[in-house]
Amino acid sequence: MVERRKPGKSRLFCVNGASDLDILDSHHTDGQQPVEGKKLVRQPLALLPTPVVPLDRLGRVLGLDALYVKRDDQTGLGLGGNKIRKLEFLLGDALRQGADTVLTVGALQSNHARQTAAACARLGLHCELILLRGRKEGEAYLKSGNVLLDRLFGARIQLIDAPASREDAMMERAEILRRDGRRPYLIPVGGSSLVGGFGYALCAEELSIQEAQVGVTFDTIIVPTGSGGTHAGLVAGLHCVGSKARVLGVAVEGTRAEKEESVWTQAQELVAALGGRRLPRRAVRVDDRFVGEGYGHPTEAMREAIFLTASLEGLLLDPTYTGKAMSGLISMARAAMIPRAAPVLFLHTGGVPGLFAQPELFESLPTASVADIAGNSMADPEIERMEGQPASTNGKKPTRRRRTKKPLEDAGERGPRDPTVG
Ligand SMILES: Cc1ncc(COP(=O)(O)O)c(C=O)c1O
Repeated sequence: MVERRKPGKSRLFCVNGASDLDILDSHHTDGQQPVEGKKLVRQPLALLPTPVVPLDRLGRVLGLDALYVKRDDQTGLGLGGNKIRKLEFLLGDALRQGADTVLTVGALQSNHARQTAAACARLGLHCELILLRGRKEGEAYLKSGNVLLDRLFGARIQLIDAPASREDAMMERAEILRRDGRRPYLIPVGGSSLVGGFGYALCAEELSIQEAQVGVTFDTIIVPTGSGGTHAGLVAGLHCVGSKARVLGVAVEGTRAEKEESVWTQAQELVAALGGRRLPRRAVRVDDRFVGEGYGHPTEAMREAIFLTASLEGLLLDPTYTGKAMSGLISMARAAMIPRAAPVLFLHTGGVPGLFAQPELFESLPTASVADIAGNSMADPEIERMEGQPASTNGKKPTRRRRTKKPLEDAGERGPRDPTVG
């Protein structure tokens, strides 16, 4: 069954009255073609809207009066995450084209691959994943986390060694499948394409509705920037609904210049498709200081961010994306780059299965002072300040930092720059 959305239901898709895009929700389960022509088909997969909830304890420690998280780690399918929103459109398109097999590429512990495998399982599509082996070793990394789930979702996994050959390997495999009479649909790395981008454009609209419900207008939104589709979709959608929020992308790989160029190009393409006004270049901002040595390489700031968020809020982040994005937020708050009173939203894009693939990262926990803040902050307002140097104890007995006799409200005073970043 195909249900046409009521006209005007999505503000986003009637921007300036100029867009001829229309979303069609498909609820079919029988593999039938839901719609002819060029229309965008959305295959519902996610549990939406995802909640927006306050992070009061973390906010107080960081000196932020209104810190919130949008729980896109809770999109529901296959342990959730940001890619489910993109896959609603990508797999809607795949079904529209009559595909029976979906191929995509990623790192060995790719969250995108895992969510694609889960979504394909749900829709009865065969899924093939071309995954880059990478340098990391260890039983957990090779067999647990996302890889374990990929296998449970029934995906075929092909491991390759060189990153440059990922797309080539996907094309070659698609050719073989075509010769066998299959109809493959190819999804680029991270699901970042124009079609996938609509998922986050719609998320922006969802957020603007939630702002009205929660009674907050976000000044700053922090998002991890990988292949850039999430960041681009959000910026495009916010631009189209007239939001004034600034989106700050925290790069998890690459340089600021590369990421800003790529995100702006993707976002502008979406804005054009939505019939919006040209997106100013300044709307796309990426900070590359939290990447560390590169994609997937741990940083001390990431370890601290994960531990702090978990121990203060019971909220889990992942080492590759959200942990680094949160380390950016923490550093910016400490450096007063985010005004204290500004409502801030952290977009939690998921990825937590990756945490279980690298348990060794937390064999020793970050500094004693962080633990003390987490444990004592409600009971004892005279907590130790986190001076912003999340030094690993490396198995040695941690040295306790001096107490500053500051009330909790002041605990977020800005520390020195994070030593692990450029
Ligand atoms: C958990 C998580 N967060 C963020 C991202 C980055 O999203 P994007 O590739 O759209 O920039 C990814 C990408 O795989 C991810 O898995």
